[in-house]
Amino acid sequence: MLLRTAALRSFRLVAALCLLTLVLAGCGSEHYPQTTLSPRGDFARIADDLLDTTVKWAFLVFVLVEGVLVYAIFRFRGKPGDPEPHQTHGNTTVEIIWTVIPALILAVIAVPTVKAIFLTNAVPAKDALTIEVVGHQWWWEFRYPEYNLTTANEMHVPLGRTVSLRMGSSDVLHSFWAPQLAAKRDVFANRETRMWFKAEAEGEYPGQCAEFCGIQHGRMSHRIKAQKPEEFQAWVAHMQALGPKLAAAAASSPQYAEGEKLFTAKGCIACHSLVAVNAPKGMVGPNLANVGARSHIAAGTLKNTDQNLAHWIRDPQGIKKGVLMPNLGVTEAEAQALVAYLRAHQ
Ligand code: CUA
Repeated sequence: MLLRTAALRSFRLVAALCLLTLVLAGCGSEHYPQTTLSPRGDFARIADDLLDTTVKWAFLVFVLVEGVLVYAIFRFRGKPGDPEPHQTHGNTTVEIIWTVIPALILAVIAVPTVKAIFLTNAVPAKDALTIEVVGHQWWWEFRYPEYNLTTANEMHVPLGRTVSLRMGSSDVLHSFWAPQLAAKRDVFANRETRMWFKAEAEGEYPGQCAEFCGIQHGRMSHRIKAQKPEEFQAWVAHMQALGPKLAAAAASSPQYAEGEKLFTAKGCIACHSLVAVNAPKGMVGPNLANVGARSHIAAGTLKNTDQNLAHWIRDPQGIKKGVLMPNLGVTEAEAQALVAYLRAHQ
């Protein structure tokens, strides 16, 4: 009976360890792309290194404290017939020791912490690529003054060149968060905040608004596409060439012309710009110059398929309640024409 209980216990322990291994194995950045634990940019690495340092100290403290505790449990275990142990109340020496040691540990941790604060708040190098970030309820606007380009929700950055984000908000307080590349920074309507990073590995890095900003705060995502410098330059050149001519040439669908008319007739044009170069500032809705090529629509809410785009055009309030885009009474056929028109913009 005793043997069976012991066997069952060992089995449970082994099963629990196997499960834990599986869970930990699943914690890679491919499953959780919004992890801060696998940095792909210099800024994010500074924060991750600081976390590693702190965790090492915490682990050391844990092992020492638990070690002493376990030792004391066995060494001073009471046996039957032992007399009442000596009772103590207060010990100045011990109290000083357990106050001074944590104070020293905190002082030691403060050194890399303060260093990291200064490093991450340093002014980036002169040759950094400036990108203006504007938070809107509920999407992100990205402007590249160097190339006179504007886009929305998908930021392209070159590898190996520091990007300097100059950030603000068009309405309420938001927080721009790029977990694998940089960190979080609140953005305000009347004050500029800054953050910089240099992407170290190619990839598509999702991030999202990290400050409650209204009913659709949870659906205010963005993507940062880190590209090889030559690919980034090709993207810039492509964006600078975008326009109605290119879109019309790319449109193979007869619905394109119908969609073009509807874009004006339904009032879409009042809130959305379709030009990337010299784009007007202060537009209510996201710039759509390359909307056909984006991976997501509605700030990361839906995959950019024709079906989703048509659904979104017909019923934005059903998909993202409270969004500034109203239901415009677009019919199914009109939505298809608008999709054909927008899809050509890529
Ligand atoms: Cu914007 Cu939360």
